[in-house]
Amino acid sequence: MIKEKLLYLQTFGCQMNVSDSEKIAGLLKNIGYRPTNDSSLADLIILNTCSVRARAEEKVYNHLVQYKGLKRKRPKILIGVGGCVAQQEGERLLLNIPHLDFVFGTHNLHLLPELVLSAEKGERQAETDFIDNDSRLDLFPVDNSTNGVSRFVTVMQGCDNFCSYCIVPYVRGREISRRSADILEEISQLAAKGVKEVTLLGQNVNSYGLKSDGELDFVTLLRQVSEIPGIERLRFTTSHPKDFSRQLIDCFAEMPKLCKHVHLPAQAGSNAVLSAMNRGYSREEYLSLIGQLKTVSPGIQITGDIIVGFPGETETDFQETLSLLEEVRYTDVFSFIYSKRPETKAAGYTDHISQKEKQMRLDRLLAMQRKITLENNRSFEGSVQEVLVEGESRRGGQIYGRISGNRIVNITADPALVGQMVRVTITRGEQNSLQGELCN
Ligand code: SAH
Ligand code: SF4
Ligand code: F3S
Repeated sequence: MIKEKLLYLQTFGCQMNVSDSEKIAGLLKNIGYRPTNDSSLADLIILNTCSVRARAEEKVYNHLVQYKGLKRKRPKILIGVGGCVAQQEGERLLLNIPHLDFVFGTHNLHLLPELVLSAEKGERQAETDFIDNDSRLDLFPVDNSTNGVSRFVTVMQGCDNFCSYCIVPYVRGREISRRSADILEEISQLAAKGVKEVTLLGQNVNSYGLKSDGELDFVTLLRQVSEIPGIERLRFTTSHPKDFSRQLIDCFAEMPKLCKHVHLPAQAGSNAVLSAMNRGYSREEYLSLIGQLKTVSPGIQITGDIIVGFPGETETDFQETLSLLEEVRYTDVFSFIYSKRPETKAAGYTDHISQKEKQMRLDRLLAMQRKITLENNRSFEGSVQEVLVEGESRRGGQIYGRISGNRIVNITADPALVGQMVRVTITRGEQNSLQGELCN
């Protein structure tokens, strides 16, 4: 029998990294590692990292510094770095951080067991090669060990859009789609284990299948997933506005299982900034898309991402972003201060905005969106919603789940309902969530 060892896995960044971490835990289970929440007990520490903004990257280095002391006390502990910082830095991480044992990039999850076994023997290695489309099966190791009623399923990774601010195309590589048959098979297996909701995941899901011969396109994939028995709800993220087709819009009218929520990042509200960002759509095109979605699916919830303080953004440009929030009336917005990233086109721009001004713009945007979010949450009061119950709330005595529109609802009810679809009357809309009561 293999001796059980403890893995402390820290995840930074987006849902893609969260999903990769599940796969990492699954792969390492096969070589005897069990997860722990206590880094001081771990035999192996892995940081699955994000480099989308400078702050995200600094966090990783701060944690690594912290583990230096741990390694001094327990020299046998192994430390590895994966994800987007690992992809960006590669061998340099091993050179700069003597207490680091191994590095693996975003295309190398499948090599991890080997890397760990070599590290156990004292070998220090970095694996950060990108793989090509032909070997793409290796990119998507499946892990079905995690429980839960709602799961993310990776359908593609990488991005070919090269928005001028964004490091993702450099750290995740070119768009590579997973085989449709494998996706459908994985979801069928999840449904057989009791999963009722799946979210199809990729940096840019609308481009799914377009660059691999013989694969389904995204809309056909969605339709086939919705026919899998047991799957009651379907979502997808993230979409790019420039690739959101009319057929995909119509899915919201035609597919009852497709949830009434779209995450559709606008990034900015002014055409000058959108163009400098290389987003490939105008404010008018974006608003037309939102209008069409709201027409085919009344009540659809829209969330988005916004960057403030992009180089050259004037006060007038910024006011156009504020007015975009008003026009779209987003359910929620993830807003970020522009951060200069290596290799990106915008890193070469000269007209940077001061940190103070960027912070002021972010504060103004947050204040406006908080108001819209609260008003929107209150608009649900008195309505009856289908809620898929996902777990017990941190507030004691309550369970929580999400409505089709992806808002969280807390309900005072029996924890035995976890995993079930229930009907709920919304009693109160709060800033970050809804309160509800079970319908009789
Ligand atoms: N299409 C992607 C977006 C990934 S990055 C997806 O799959 O979700 C998530 C968000 O980070 C972007 O939408 C953008 O708003 C923000 N972001 C990316 N690069 C940034 C930068 N250099 N500075 C600030 N925010 C950035
Ligand atoms: Fe980055 Fe743009 Fe690709 Fe999204 S679409 S990952 S923002 S380059
Ligand atoms: Fe970060 Fe990489 Fe995701 S840079 S946002 S973890 S794709």
